[in-house]
Amino acid sequence: MKRMLLGTSSLEVPVIAAGCMRINTLDEENVENHINRCMELGINFFEHADIYGGGKCESLFAEAFERTEFRREDIVLQSKCGIIPGVMYDFSKNHIIKSVENSLKRLNTDYLDVLVLHRPDALVEPEEVAEAFDLLNASGKVRNFGVSNHKPMQIDLLKKYIKQDIITNQLQFSIPFSNMVRNGLEVNMLTEGAVDRDGSVLDYCRLNDMTIQAWSPFQYGFFEGVFIGSDKYPELNQQLEELAERYDVTPTTITAAWMLRHPAHLQMIAGTTDPGRLEEIAMGSEITLSREEWYKIYLSAGNILP
Ligand SMILES: NC(=O)c1ccc[n+]([C@@H]2O[C@H](COP(=O)([O-])OP(=O)(O)OC[C@H]3O[C@@H](n4cnc5c(N)ncnc54)[C@H](OP(=O)(O)O)[C@@H]3O)[C@@H](O)[C@H]2O)c1
Repeated sequence: MKRMLLGTSSLEVPVIAAGCMRINTLDEENVENHINRCMELGINFFEHADIYGGGKCESLFAEAFERTEFRREDIVLQSKCGIIPGVMYDFSKNHIIKSVENSLKRLNTDYLDVLVLHRPDALVEPEEVAEAFDLLNASGKVRNFGVSNHKPMQIDLLKKYIKQDIITNQLQFSIPFSNMVRNGLEVNMLTEGAVDRDGSVLDYCRLNDMTIQAWSPFQYGFFEGVFIGSDKYPELNQQLEELAERYDVTPTTITAAWMLRHPAHLQMIAGTTDPGRLEEIAMGSEITLSREEWYKIYLSAGNILP
């Protein structure tokens, strides 16, 4: 498994992370197996949120982790806060601190390696976020900070007040959900891809040495389904299969290799809990697609060259 530094931090992480949003579909023994499999493959980065499974994903993870031979310092733990599902988004100082303390309890640890603000809060008061980050950092409860689903200007607003580096921005990104790439290719055109939905967030993150963490890398739409094997994407699947044959791997491996080929050095957050698929995804870190292959896959998903 290839490794990299997360943003401007000294935190060394695998290029593929294990997303824990879906682990509550497993029992404790299978979560333990999943953690062990991740560790065998070099995936020692586990990504959570206070809301996953209503908190159950964090506590289930901690109970299963306790049964493994690994120690806290062997893994990197990230969690997110700021969403109160169906009610509001909340970046108030009190909510951030309370949410982290609850995550720490559920995860049975005394620190998070990374805390991420989950989705922009319309009522954000960056001074309050800065106070919360200072307290959490000074008490040793949070070592690094990031954001998720944020535009460049929203990050700049936070940065005006926050002392710590914002080392990551977590964004939805997959072959068919690649607006942040399309946007940069179809500049000033009348095409759908030219619509700027993210304020050039890809270039912003590269310019500021922030790592983009790609969420839902195998999904199309907003949790509409998996594109691999879907009859909605016949050309893409044909292309993935052709390349899979060429490299003697599976389309899942090629999908991971496609994402990791991007020179922005994204970290891919894979949500599978299937041991076989996890291995296929991990193999993607060993394959470097050519520029031509990368573009062929991109175009086969219905994207265009203007
Ligand atoms: N910041 C945010 O707003 C946000 C939003 C959503 C998610 N996230 C993070 O991103 C992580 C990943 O999200 P995700 O779970 O939606 O991502 P994903 O890796 O795109 O999807 C995983 C799901 O797809 C299924 N799947 C079916 N075929 C697959 C294949 N060939 N390859 C890979 N998966 C296949 C998996 O089933 P099996 O388990 O059976 O393989 C699993 O249910 C989450 O765990 C969470 O940490 C963040």
